[in-house]
Amino acid sequence: MAEPRNILITGGTDGIGLKLAYTYANGGNNVVVTGRRSAEDVKGLLAVNITYIKADQAAPDEAANAIIRALAKLGWHHCDLAILNAGNGKAGDPLAENSRDLINRIDVNLTAPILISHALEELLMASANSKLVLIGSTSHRGASNFASYAASKAGLNGFARSLREEWRGRVNVQIIHPGPIATNMHDKAGFDPGIIKRIFLNPDFVARTIIRKIKKGRSPTSISFAARIIDYLTLRNWFSS
Ligand SMILES: NC(=O)c1ccc[n+]([C@@H]2O[C@H](COP(=O)([O-])OP(=O)(O)OC[C@H]3O[C@@H](n4cnc5c(N)ncnc54)[C@H](OP(=O)(O)O)[C@@H]3O)[C@@H](O)[C@H]2O)c1
Repeated sequence: MAEPRNILITGGTDGIGLKLAYTYANGGNNVVVTGRRSAEDVKGLLAVNITYIKADQAAPDEAANAIIRALAKLGWHHCDLAILNAGNGKAGDPLAENSRDLINRIDVNLTAPILISHALEELLMASANSKLVLIGSTSHRGASNFASYAASKAGLNGFARSLREEWRGRVNVQIIHPGPIATNMHDKAGFDPGIIKRIFLNPDFVARTIIRKIKKGRSPTSISFAARIIDYLTLRNWFSS
């Protein structure tokens, strides 16, 4: 049997991060997730074999420090896989977005993942085969009514592409850009997609595809509607879903 891996997932209290956490923990790995809420608030959400760190990315420096401190306390001397997934959105007219909201979006979606990546360098380099995965969005190409969100993901795309070259041969850095997913993120962003939500990507499918893409290690890479159709048509899924 393969050795359990040390896996960190930011934003592991809902949506894709939560699904990834359960999948990796059920596979026998040491899984640590982060989130903005207190440990008390997320108690019922997480299985006993998933460790929680409160690290609110709205304060990026503090979040990065809290993660490193907590991992040291847990006795981690290396990290095999870090998935920087935490993110938030905000829908609406960009002119109606005040500077506080805008700074929050950039802090949570861009500044924090950059600082957390830097803070994890030593732990990632200490693993023979480590991977750093950033969860972007197809909206990095531009998305009306989600301008600051799209901007934060475009920035993340540039960061990931740069770091992939800087760490080449030491840590595999990858950015994965999913299309719209049927998670709670849209509600939290104040956006009601209405009937269109029916064609959003299924969260289980996205989590499964992310895991497959992490194994392949290509970057940048997207998860699109076309991939969903291929997944649906793949015989394997008739048995697994
Ligand atoms: N949903 C989509 O359509 C879509 C499409 C493309 C890409 N993505 C990206 O996929 C990733 C996961 O999104 P999702 O759809 O799974 O959303 P989600 O269900 O809202 O989950 C987001 C996670 O990030 C956490 N989070 C939010 N703000 C945070 C903060 N300030 N500090 C620390 N953690 C914070 C959330 O905590 P709480 O549980 O407390 O909210 C939750 O655990 C995000 O990066 C998102 O941008 C989503």
